[in-house]
Amino acid sequence: MGDFVRLADVAGPPTELLFGDWYPALRASELRVGKMTTATLLGIPVLLGRRSDGRVFAMRDLCPHRGIPLSAGWFDGETVQCKYHGWRFEPCGGQCVEIPSLTAEQREGLDPTKIYAAAFPCEERDGYAWVYVPAAGAGRVVSNLPVVPELPKFSARYKSAHLVAELPCNVDHGIIGLMDPAHGPFVHQAWWWRSKASIHEKTKHFEPLEDRENNGRNAGFRMSAHAPSGNSAPYKLLGVYGEPITTTIDFVLPNRRLETIRCGAKWFSSLTTITPVTASTCRIDVVAAWNVFYWVPFVTSIATFFGARFVRQDQETMIEQAQGLRSNPSLMLIDDADKPAKWYFALKQARLKGTGEHPLSGPVVLRWRS
Ligand code: FES
Ligand SMILES: [Fe+2]
Repeated sequence: MGDFVRLADVAGPPTELLFGDWYPALRASELRVGKMTTATLLGIPVLLGRRSDGRVFAMRDLCPHRGIPLSAGWFDGETVQCKYHGWRFEPCGGQCVEIPSLTAEQREGLDPTKIYAAAFPCEERDGYAWVYVPAAGAGRVVSNLPVVPELPKFSARYKSAHLVAELPCNVDHGIIGLMDPAHGPFVHQAWWWRSKASIHEKTKHFEPLEDRENNGRNAGFRMSAHAPSGNSAPYKLLGVYGEPITTTIDFVLPNRRLETIRCGAKWFSSLTTITPVTASTCRIDVVAAWNVFYWVPFVTSIATFFGARFVRQDQETMIEQAQGLRSNPSLMLIDDADKPAKWYFALKQARLKGTGEHPLSGPVVLRWRS
């Protein structure tokens, strides 16, 4: 299941989206000089590419003259040229540099360089092309941008891997699925991970992550540093190092889960993002880095294999869930296991309304069985 399902055909209801932030569009390795690639972010068609100087760029895939997608035209490594009337644009800022139909005299009255196609800030981090998606009507965005998200690394040498899967649900279901502890023993059963029989009571400490300088734009919450769950095999593996293991999991708006596991000088970190493709579909991207078991041959392939299986289990579950969500049922969030989901919805509303309010006034203890 999964590969042959067209997400648009099974997608559930839409949701409101958080504009004005960075989202990963695609793997930067897909961007080659002289080639144009397209992606959809928050319902916006985006054209991406790489200039001959190596810099990546993202533009709205739409010619400001008469609306044809710019991706239908040409890119020579320096400028993007529209297929329809040949206007040329500098892709990093969107500035028009040529309108071929203008006579020399006309060019005196109409300066092409005063015209801009919409270009979005675009940066390469951890192998992704991150795109800043502004709010509609925000104009040209150049200053006061939030920091580009990045996976923390704690040593010079490390290995890394990434995974991607499309999800047929809106970003809210993707995100609350990400932070939901109670599905683990059911969806992710496997001998190497955990089984239903291993369910036991857990106590987790949370604290608010405020982003006061930015009125809560990237606010979130942290599952405070703790010894990881004893019923997860990968954590048991780290036990061979004989040092205390701690894990910290942060969620920050709009869509990021960051997990860091430290065991002496050994570390593992992962950044998972749920990116709205449209208002009713999303994509999960996971990038991980580690210096654990550095010496094991094929460690990256092994990690990717198990990680892909894990993500596929979530994806298959969400494809099934989407069938139910299509009839827009009312849903329940119960008790402590669903509390992080409630916090997410409260943080999202606070950001949409600009209130800067945080649902946690201080540290909180949650208990559940998983
Ligand atoms: S529509 Fe692009 S140049 Fe006319
Ligand atoms: Fe999951």
